[in-house]
Amino acid sequence: MRLAAYVLPWRKPVLIEGEGCVTQLPGRLTGEGVKNVLLVTDNVIMRLGLADKLLRALVEAGIEVAVYDEVVPNPTIDNIEEALSLYKENGCGAIIAIGGGSSIDCAKGVGARIARPKKSITRMKGILKVILSMPPLYAIPTTSGTGSEATIASVVVDSGTREKYAIMDPALIPRAAVLDPLLTVGLPPFITATTGMDALTHAVEAYIGRSNTRETREMARKTVALVFENLYTAYKDGSDITARANMQRAAYYGGIAFTRAYVGNIHAVAHTLGGRYNVPHGLANAVILPLILDDFGECIYKPLSELADAAGIQGETDERKAKAFIAAIRELNALMGIPATIDGIIEDDIPTLAGLAYHESNPTYPVPRIFSREDFISVYHRLMGKPGLHGYAGKIARIDLSTGEITTYMPARGELLKYLGGKGLAAKIIYDAFDKKVEAFSDENLIVITTSPLNGSTAPSSARFNISTISPLTGLLVSSNCGGSFGLSLKRAGYDALVISGKSPDKVYIRIGDDGIKFRDASAIWGKGTSETQALMGGGGKLVIGVAGENLVRYACVTSQERVAGRGGVGAVFGHKQLKGIVASGSAPAITLSDKERFKELNKKWIAKLREHPITGRQLPNLGTAALVRPMQRHGLLAAKNYTTGRFDEFENLSGETLREKHLVKNKGCPACPIQCGRVVSLGGSEIKGPELETIGLLGPNLLNNDMEGIIRINRMCDEYGLDTISFGGSVGFAMELNEKGLWDNGLRFGDCEDIEALVAQVAHREGVGADIAEGVMRMSEKFGGAEYAIHVKGMELPAYDPRAAQGMGLGYATANRGGCHLNGGYLAVLEGLGIEVNGATTSGKAALTVLFQDLLEAASAAGSCLFTTYAVFPAALIKHPDKASVRLVCKLLTSVGGIIAFAHNHPGILGINAPGIIPHSYAYSLVTGAKMNIGRFSRSGERIYNLERIINVRQGLTSGDALPARLASPELAEGAQDHVHLDKMLKKYYRIRGWDEHGVPKQKRLKKLGLPEL
Ligand code: SF4
Ligand SMILES: [Fe+2]
Repeated sequence: MRLAAYVLPWRKPVLIEGEGCVTQLPGRLTGEGVKNVLLVTDNVIMRLGLADKLLRALVEAGIEVAVYDEVVPNPTIDNIEEALSLYKENGCGAIIAIGGGSSIDCAKGVGARIARPKKSITRMKGILKVILSMPPLYAIPTTSGTGSEATIASVVVDSGTREKYAIMDPALIPRAAVLDPLLTVGLPPFITATTGMDALTHAVEAYIGRSNTRETREMARKTVALVFENLYTAYKDGSDITARANMQRAAYYGGIAFTRAYVGNIHAVAHTLGGRYNVPHGLANAVILPLILDDFGECIYKPLSELADAAGIQGETDERKAKAFIAAIRELNALMGIPATIDGIIEDDIPTLAGLAYHESNPTYPVPRIFSREDFISVYHRLMGKPGLHGYAGKIARIDLSTGEITTYMPARGELLKYLGGKGLAAKIIYDAFDKKVEAFSDENLIVITTSPLNGSTAPSSARFNISTISPLTGLLVSSNCGGSFGLSLKRAGYDALVISGKSPDKVYIRIGDDGIKFRDASAIWGKGTSETQALMGGGGKLVIGVAGENLVRYACVTSQERVAGRGGVGAVFGHKQLKGIVASGSAPAITLSDKERFKELNKKWIAKLREHPITGRQLPNLGTAALVRPMQRHGLLAAKNYTTGRFDEFENLSGETLREKHLVKNKGCPACPIQCGRVVSLGGSEIKGPELETIGLLGPNLLNNDMEGIIRINRMCDEYGLDTISFGGSVGFAMELNEKGLWDNGLRFGDCEDIEALVAQVAHREGVGADIAEGVMRMSEKFGGAEYAIHVKGMELPAYDPRAAQGMGLGYATANRGGCHLNGGYLAVLEGLGIEVNGATTSGKAALTVLFQDLLEAASAAGSCLFTTYAVFPAALIKHPDKASVRLVCKLLTSVGGIIAFAHNHPGILGINAPGIIPHSYAYSLVTGAKMNIGRFSRSGERIYNLERIINVRQGLTSGDALPARLASPELAEGAQDHVHLDKMLKKYYRIRGWDEHGVPKQKRLKKLGLPEL
């Protein structure tokens, strides 16, 4: 096709334009000796009298006219044959077509049959099957869209098979195009809108295709400019002659552009809908256009950004301009009442339709990227309003708290495949929303709540959801994961995600149900604790903030049932936006699974494996996360006294075993989880949530507190006020040390924890010393000093593992995108003594292992799995028999194969397999969504998300690399025999493997490889 664009005998029709110019036509005909003419049109044109002036002028000029006015929308071969008979019966010498694209296409068909009397229309399907010249054709468009007056194509429908196809031959180019704006004045607004969008589609497809010439590019840009300047005016005020004339020109230029540069996938799909269901061509194109442009993704950012220039749309980068251009198309559609979906598509037809579109576009059209059949199937699903991938509910709600405006959209299929869901999708949404640094406490900051494809699939431990925002604690991106019921409820309400912007003028909560998304007055629940608030919000899955969030405590959390999205202060962002909570319920259809049977089979095996595994089947259900207290003590990992040491003599009081013996009532966990790692304990006769390991660590050894019952009470207070127990415990520990060192006289002392409960309330209300503790460790150290023992990374307080005994965990803390976090850091402590016994003291192999685990955890989380399911990836034998020589050898080997791990990480193709017995996550994603996924791609998705988080952080100002507090990483501050984290040594290797520079900034080459935008 590309070659054809250069060698075909192109010509342009003579252009006759201006108000009333149809009356010039008879003079031309007589000049050419034409006495009899065939007029091809439809009965609407005749009824509206649009041909009257012309007919009168023809009669006055003495020209006999045979009128064929039976053309139907999507003209048929029958139409052509009937008109042909009339032409012959009346001895005509020319054809005039007046009407929309259908009449002109029908007239071209008549011309083709006259040129090749022995060839049927069916045999002329395709390109260059006419060749011989036909009688002169004069095209008078009465709509402004098809551009057929300028093109080589005639699109017809086979009356028998309903197949729609094109005859393309330069012989079909009309002799003249007559553009009389007066003929389009009476065009109804909706037809004006959809035909105008057809013209735009021609220009866009021509421009992004690979058969452009300088002229077609020029014509396409002119079309785009004219459409964006005039279409809405013509739609609103049909009598605006200037807008009408400009739209006629737009259609004509669009025709010149695409007749030579071709259309593409959008037209391929539109033709199938026209052929099968008679969907008007312009309407089909208008709806399909933004959707397929989304699907092309980055390969068309450059040309679309140029079209954005033509349309006067601004943007910083090609990607932003391209996306703004697509958004502007959607906006124009919406303004003109064009829907986002098409009614009447039948699910069972989709494979056939996708097959037809696939064959029409490939190899006929020079498209920027060839779509597979699956790509086309996804397009039809989305045209029906369904998600383009299984496993998703199909829409994301944008909620502007400032204006109350609510809109919905769905990201392109390619985007979902790249970022999966959860934290990945949220990062992409946040990346796209801004082009500069955003303050956490600002109206522009977003709260992005995302579910994932595995949510609602019945995969084990998959009822998790994610909240991402710019953190008030770190100023960087934070993603916080939660296991309560909200995620599943949101999906049952029909939403994959919520994107919340602005700031509400009043205190509100949001109710999401089958009747839509509504704002509710929250003044009566403002100031209440998280349990009472949830009880007062009625039925449904809920997430709420407590008083700490309302008062902008920088580490306030969000609570759903008893589970919390704890880290990074997401609750404070809710508070700033005056949003107390969200409740969701609904009866949207359950998500569909691509391969239900195989997924069921996998699920069965996966659950069985989790139940058998020593960590997920025994340790966690029996003892909860507190099971780790004893091994942490044994390995020197139990951070005590503000991380002065990694051991606590009275650890036994705080162990999982003690919790079980003295306090446990029953296990409890997130919905749909066979592990049930949560605890219900009794306190003063009532049953309440028991503390997690991190809570025990930070409120216990970290404060030199050996009182388990006291910790249970503090934990409960933190939950009610909505405080992250890790950051709270870390901040209190630091405050105690500041007091001890004489830097801040606050009355807090290690080991003296009687009053900590009262302190929780003070922090939540920002009262007394609580006002400073509410700011977190980093800000306290800026105010009072003690930076070398201010235990935070990037502003976020550290979890309970002392990294000096687990070098890999130290590297993970330092590099974690959200700051001091074990999970985002790759959680190497599990390898370094808390699951298997890899030597925690060595740095060897740790850089590669950290990268590997960070990326895998990232992908597992984004897909929707609880990270505890990843424990079961380690063979049971490694955990059960740590002293066996063979197990010790494996653990040793793991530290000496860093090079191999790094190589595999950077060549994920070699892991292009699924091994569901070991890593079920990637296979489960594939069976749920129907997308191709294997371990290599899964790990690459994780890497992509990790890098995207990093570039958001760089935009937020993180350009000075990754570090640990001096107490942990400085040899000078090492106490006694205690080691320090050899961070520099590991960091260099880590950056090398990641393809980041010495400041921890991803290099362009790596970003390109991951399909990420440039920095
Ligand atoms: S393992 Fe624990 S945290 Fe994870 S889903 Fe199950 S109950 Fe929730
Ligand atoms: Fe078209």
